[in-house]
Amino acid sequence: MTMSTGETALKSRRKLRLPNLQNIPIALFFKEFCKHPAMIGSIIPSSDRLIERMLSRVDWERTRVFVEYGPGVGTITRPILERLKPDAMLIAIDTNPDFIAYLKRTIADPRIILVHGSAADIRSILASHDLEHADYVLSGLPFSTLPAGVGPAIMRETYAALRTGGAFVVYQYALKVLRLMRPYFANIDRDFEPINIPPAQVFWGWKD
Ligand SMILES: C[S@@+](CC[C@H](N)C(=O)[O-])C[C@H]1O[C@@H](n2cnc3c(N)ncnc32)[C@H](O)[C@@H]1O
Repeated sequence: MTMSTGETALKSRRKLRLPNLQNIPIALFFKEFCKHPAMIGSIIPSSDRLIERMLSRVDWERTRVFVEYGPGVGTITRPILERLKPDAMLIAIDTNPDFIAYLKRTIADPRIILVHGSAADIRSILASHDLEHADYVLSGLPFSTLPAGVGPAIMRETYAALRTGGAFVVYQYALKVLRLMRPYFANIDRDFEPINIPPAQVFWGWKD
């Protein structure tokens, strides 16, 4: 009996044991960037140095509710979980269902709640878990390429969702996001991380 070309290809694929690209974070990230460049905004995930810098000012002892916008393949999600206290929780929100499905497959931690939705709905997402405020919100969102109106709505809702004394942690490749932050956050700290592709600005907007 002779095999069709399709059967032969399937057989050699099985023999080679080709990995499923959906399970390789960098491959999944790049594939999703090609499909939705404006929503992802970056060709590769954040560097360890940038993550360390963003998380360096968080008061982990006092943090009970941490929110992450745009976790992607979880590059920052995992370091947050490493620092988070056992009785605290992390709510990670992403509009991309493939990223949320990947995170559900690969992170088994009772402290994380993975939400397929928009950061603009932060307050109703918190309310659906009987929460009024977040201590910190960290954004991985590409503010400069989001659809019109989405950035200002996210800024307004995030400010309302934060507890007094909490902070909105934002990294961006340009200073433009400051225009969105300033109407809400009177007190903004700034820093810069050169070891990232591309080098990134970091902002902490404190809710006084
Ligand atoms: C640059 S990627 C961030 C990846 C990851 N946090 C990192 O730093 O490596 C931006 C992420 O934001 C998500 N995103 C875009 N718009 C969003 C929105 N309105 N709400 C929540 N997530 C959004 C995208 O799907 C994508 O996962």
